[in-house]
Amino acid sequence: MKVRVLGAAAGGGYPQWNCNHPNSRRARSGDPAAPQRTQSSIAVSSDGRDWFLFNASPDLRQQINENEILHPRMGLRDSPIRGVVLTNADVDHVTGLLTLRESQPLRVYATRRVLSVLAANSIFNVLNPAFVTREPLTLDQPVELQTPEGKASGIVVSPFSVPGKVALWLEDATKGPNFGSVEEDTIALEVRAKSGRGRFVYMPGCAEMPPALASRLRGTDLIFFDGTLWVDDEMIREGVGVKTGKRMGHMSVSGPDGTLATLRDLGIQRRIFIHINTTNPILLADSAERRAVEVAGWEVAYDGMEVEL
Ligand code: MLT
Ligand code: MN
Repeated sequence: MKVRVLGAAAGGGYPQWNCNHPNSRRARSGDPAAPQRTQSSIAVSSDGRDWFLFNASPDLRQQINENEILHPRMGLRDSPIRGVVLTNADVDHVTGLLTLRESQPLRVYATRRVLSVLAANSIFNVLNPAFVTREPLTLDQPVELQTPEGKASGIVVSPFSVPGKVALWLEDATKGPNFGSVEEDTIALEVRAKSGRGRFVYMPGCAEMPPALASRLRGTDLIFFDGTLWVDDEMIREGVGVKTGKRMGHMSVSGPDGTLATLRDLGIQRRIFIHINTTNPILLADSAERRAVEVAGWEVAYDGMEVEL
């Protein structure tokens, strides 16, 4: 199975359009220790021909242009992108669907909850329903992804709920402190090749690590995990926002309840941060925080990163 990181940054990208934080300035100036990153998404394939996107970022057009594996090959209208799997309805994960507009056959997989969000917004009909099917994912039920023609992809995906929050733009303050969030709002994907032993977990958003979730991850070959913030109050500290990570549905990398600590002893062979916010110092190749995550055995995803398992 092949994985290509299309984008490693959190919502807004790195640098975010209106961000004048020193991290963003370094990225904008072309500093080699601060390479720009587009918004989070990966492409997955078992044969190197048919590719499935895990989330569709607002930067998808740029990501396609920058990754030859996603270029059209045959005829006048063609795409190696055969489907999209969504982990939530966040802006940074669904707006790329609009880039896939018009009459290209695709399958879009998401929970019924997330599909209902797409159904409620008629702009998503730019994905011509005559060509694009919407496939409900049921929690904890493995499904082999299929091409639009019904060909088995060889990629088996098991969706499972993770602690999180309804998309920011769907928050309903009248519904209490969790803003009306339900189980199907945030999922992670456990991914296996039908032939082969490798499995990886894709989890770009996770609010906390309860013991049951940690057990589930134990022994995984590879995890792509939520690297949004270094510390919970980072956006407040840095003067760029008023929300904590917890409020946004993201656990932090550092600290006693953080990712380094809670995923340390789970026997996960390879651990990679993705969905990284502009303020997170692990973006910078020369920061002490980058060094700390590397010493702890983690990698920091970058656009164009290739992983095979
Ligand atoms: C998130 O991951 O919390 C969201 O992408 C935030 C946002 O939409 O700005
Ligand atoms: Mn996000």
